Amino acid sequence: MCGIIGYTGRGDALSRVTAGLCALEYRGYDSAGAAFFCGGDVNVIKTAGRIAELIKLTKEIDSSPNCAIGHTRWATHGAPTKTNAHPHKYGRVTLVHNGIIENHAELKAAVGAHPISETDSEIAAACIDAIFSECGDPLLSVRRACDGFSGSFAIGVMFDCFPGMIYAAKNKSPLIVGISKSGNYIASDVAAIISETDTYIELCDGDVCMISPDRCVIIDKRSEEVKRSAAVANVVADDIGLCGYDHFMKKEIAQEPEAIRKTLLRRMSDGAVSFCGDGLSDEYLSGIEKLTVVACGTAYHAGLWAKHYIEKTCRIPVDVVIASEYIYGDPLTRSGDTVIFISQSGETADTLSALELASSRGAMTIAVVNVKTSSIARRADVAVFTEAGPEIAVASTKAYTVQCAVMTALGARIAYAKGILDTHGLRSVSRALTGDLCDAINDVIAREAGISAAAKRYHKSDDVYFIGRGADVCACLEASLKLKEISYVHSEAYAAGELKHGTISLITDGTPVIALVGDEKTSDKMMNAIREVAARGADVFAVCRRDFPRDEAIKTRFELPACSDDVLAIAAQTVFQLFAYHTAKLRGCDVDKPRNLAKSVTVE
Ligand code: G6P
Repeated sequence: MCGIIGYTGRGDALSRVTAGLCALEYRGYDSAGAAFFCGGDVNVIKTAGRIAELIKLTKEIDSSPNCAIGHTRWATHGAPTKTNAHPHKYGRVTLVHNGIIENHAELKAAVGAHPISETDSEIAAACIDAIFSECGDPLLSVRRACDGFSGSFAIGVMFDCFPGMIYAAKNKSPLIVGISKSGNYIASDVAAIISETDTYIELCDGDVCMISPDRCVIIDKRSEEVKRSAAVANVVADDIGLCGYDHFMKKEIAQEPEAIRKTLLRRMSDGAVSFCGDGLSDEYLSGIEKLTVVACGTAYHAGLWAKHYIEKTCRIPVDVVIASEYIYGDPLTRSGDTVIFISQSGETADTLSALELASSRGAMTIAVVNVKTSSIARRADVAVFTEAGPEIAVASTKAYTVQCAVMTALGARIAYAKGILDTHGLRSVSRALTGDLCDAINDVIAREAGISAAAKRYHKSDDVYFIGRGADVCACLEASLKLKEISYVHSEAYAAGELKHGTISLITDGTPVIALVGDEKTSDKMMNAIREVAARGADVFAVCRRDFPRDEAIKTRFELPACSDDVLAIAAQTVFQLFAYHTAKLRGCDVDKPRNLAKSVTVE
């Protein structure tokens, strides 16, 4: 969601800025723009289209500026038009913004702004310009203006009369400063600068900074200069490159086994997974009597999987709540409760707000998070990192698989701490996750041709239904989301037993029904459901256990690998990820960057 990049230093700033924007494309966007110094003034170029359009515009510029800012916008206030695209120039101030300035209406009235766009961001530029008129100091103008903003924001600013300088500020939206030999950067994340430098400074909420080609000055909320230490990114260019794959989604699916192993093997001691090193002792885990899991999107589905596994294994209640519902639902969280927040990016605004709410109520907050430097990782009492590596495709794949694996491991460790599982049992779950599951995912990937053939059969359908029972329902929900996200096919997921209470009325001749049969206990019931829909004309695709009987009601069949029952539904998800991938490709969709979606949703 909205990407920011800025560069000041030797060499061409615009090509660095557009390259940075390309690296931020994965966040999702609908328009793009850049601003640069030219002849002592700031010029703005923008487009309501893709970055390729912006690059064309930069080719028409005959100078080679060495200070520029750029932006990819994911529309919140106002349609995705050229006028609403960033940067916004107001008076002497040119600004790019990620986030939402919630009090923009009051601010507009207070400064008497006459914006030309519908954005809250232009009002922010107007506020900075108004304060600059009074104090004449750019750094302090940004500081004072930000003090009046409520909401989440990361901004990059240039002032007409200060060539070579970029000002920036952040509150609850990510922003870093990149340090390179040729000059300095601001960026939404490391991906935008990694081809130029791996050295960066993480700005804290409330920081305002100024970068010039050879300096970086940061002031805190009290306007006092502060030093923030530089870090070296553990991302290599390969992590964010396609490495021979056609799409990031395909590459990331292929990385699932490696990501699971990397995450769990470092937590293994004597063949059994442990979270002691993360700060979760067995003593603490044994005292947990109920759990709440809060997340959004795919991470929420990982939470549903966790509920299924933990309730079954530990016999404690697990509530799973969508973060945006948690925040406004007056949750029953009390002091002493344990609340787990699952997030790939660690920046999802709803999940972050939910974490703050749970924290304010005295709960112990645990983040299961993929980005170590993220806001959610920093704010939680305990952060359990998944080691999926950068996930670039908007639709989450490897992060989900690893989240499910970690939550299974955590559930097993809670059961061990409570004396429900013995060492042998814990070792066996640990082996199932790092061995069986990884082998099963590799097996699914090796048989991809069967999945693409199924996608070929069903890709023209506009409605698809997924059915399953037990843990398979969680997998179906995620399968349905994946298909919707990237192929724009309407789909729904149902507990198979629920079909006859309404949805079966939608089944007509040729309606695709994808039945997941991973749970042995309910295999017979699933066969009944399959026959019921087939009798009404459904074209059934069964993704099933090897021992599931063949039946004429099943038109297409993909057998799941032999695998521990504890983790089979996780491996089944790889089938559905590949099914969605091939369906999207066949329908001519932009697999990695689906319309309207953003990778990191940093606004509520
Ligand atoms: C967006 C992404 C999804 C993701 C969700 C939660 O909607 O497109 O893929 O599951 O946000 O993101 P998080 O980073 O918190 O896991």
